[in-house]
Amino acid sequence: MQSADWDARYAEGQQWSTGPNALIADLLADSPPGRAVDLAAGEGRHARWLAGLGWEVTAVDFSPVGLDRGRAAPGGDAVTWVAADVLTWTPPAADLDIGLDLVLVAYLHLPQHEMTGLLTRAVGWLRPGGRMLVLGHDVDNLIRGVGGPQDEAVLTSLPRLAPVAALLEVDRLEQVTRPTLAGTALDTLLSGRRPPSGE
Ligand SMILES: C[S@@+](CC[C@H](N)C(=O)[O-])C[C@H]1O[C@@H](n2cnc3c(N)ncnc32)[C@H](O)[C@@H]1O
Repeated sequence: MQSADWDARYAEGQQWSTGPNALIADLLADSPPGRAVDLAAGEGRHARWLAGLGWEVTAVDFSPVGLDRGRAAPGGDAVTWVAADVLTWTPPAADLDIGLDLVLVAYLHLPQHEMTGLLTRAVGWLRPGGRMLVLGHDVDNLIRGVGGPQDEAVLTSLPRLAPVAALLEVDRLEQVTRPTLAGTALDTLLSGRRPPSGE
């Protein structure tokens, strides 16, 4: 989907959720606040939640309408909003000099080569020990789950995230279930940390 398609969806008033995904909230609730980037943040449900916990958050998305909705939502004024294509955007040099504490990517669906390229670049934005958290609709939803894109080429899976996991000290790389009103959805989770320099 192009940015105009996402603009149209957001303009229709479609909203993913007012609060963060429960698993992301669980995984990050006790992390000490730092500098985070939320890639493909949409309305910034995670960015706004993190900012409320004291994080310094940059939310990047190519849908200006989604970003405007996030800006206007509770907590929106505590987030730095950037309208950009994540495939070409890079954090400011000052952030790269220090390194990010967290890169979060939730429900961004791209062809595998683009996703792998983006996540590989994003690992390089982390400070040593900084965390990458990726959550997306798993390809198995097409046969035994619910929701998410129905295009197999843009869904996530453990093998598809493996090249990025290989760059990290991995805490979790697994398929997880998410209860929805329509049934059980399957997500792919990758949580890992950039290894100390030299590894
Ligand atoms: C399903 S929404 C997820 C939003 C948010 N991460 C969340 O979990 O609520 C997917 C988002 O990805 C954004 N997106 C898709 N491709 C993008 C790209 N190449 N650059 C920037 N944003 C993109 C869309 O605009 C949309 O806001």
